[in-house]
Amino acid sequence: MPYRPLKPSDLLPKGPLRRVGQHVYLHDSLPSTNAFLLAEAGSVGDGAVVAAEYQTAGRGRLGRRWEAPRGSSLLVSILLIEPPDSPLLTPAALLAAVAACEAVTAATTCEPQIRWPNDVVCDGRKLGGVLAESRPLGRKRALVLGIGLNCLQHRGHFAGDLATKATSLELECTQRVERGPIAAALLARLDAWIAEVSQTSEGPVALWRAWRMRCPDVGARVTLHHDARTYTGTAVDVTDEGHLIVELDEGGRRVFAAETTTRDW
Ligand code: BTN
Repeated sequence: MPYRPLKPSDLLPKGPLRRVGQHVYLHDSLPSTNAFLLAEAGSVGDGAVVAAEYQTAGRGRLGRRWEAPRGSSLLVSILLIEPPDSPLLTPAALLAAVAACEAVTAATTCEPQIRWPNDVVCDGRKLGGVLAESRPLGRKRALVLGIGLNCLQHRGHFAGDLATKATSLELECTQRVERGPIAAALLARLDAWIAEVSQTSEGPVALWRAWRMRCPDVGARVTLHHDARTYTGTAVDVTDEGHLIVELDEGGRRVFAAETTTRDW
């Protein structure tokens, strides 16, 4: 696939950043940008950003793999070193999904939405995903926000199931897609939300409002898989922790946690 390789300066927005992007590492290939930052959390420092043109063992949610042709995507992770009671730990993944939607909206002609829990979608097809992972680091926690955004793929790059379920900005946008401005907008929006949620009392509520505005799932029919069972019903709300509350067809309500539930398309 023809692509213009990213440069570290492409990733940084014009305006100042508070916390994100203290150090930027750009690799041609890594096993996984999330795994890199989790392993190097003690040495790379708070706010470090790592991006790769290709991942040999990209990680998706629920132990799945995240695959993307070399140079096709934005594969980016951000490290935050947080106290164990940080207000960022619970909403980390939804914060990254909101920031990804806002960045794509600002930098392209595409206006993605969020599909519970944290998929970034365009016209019902998956454009990107978010994986938030954390581990202890001394008395703190190393929190890694990993974002994968399909940018330059053509239809033929999506094999099997993905042929109908996945999409890219190249397929959705009316203009030529440049990864640099999208990456810069992503870091700017992540930085803004991280500051708002961790430093203001209204931040977490504002983030939820932004998430709900972009997520049309409340009221939608859903089929979910949890504990080797399939559930169908109507999504009625989302809890403060980001779990989905579903009115089940079989009767009753049930709360489904994002970490343990898969969802049919
Ligand atoms: C999902 O399953 O929807 C989440 C996918 C997250 C993929 C990104 S790509 C950059 C970062 N590094 C990884 O190994 N995974 C995340």
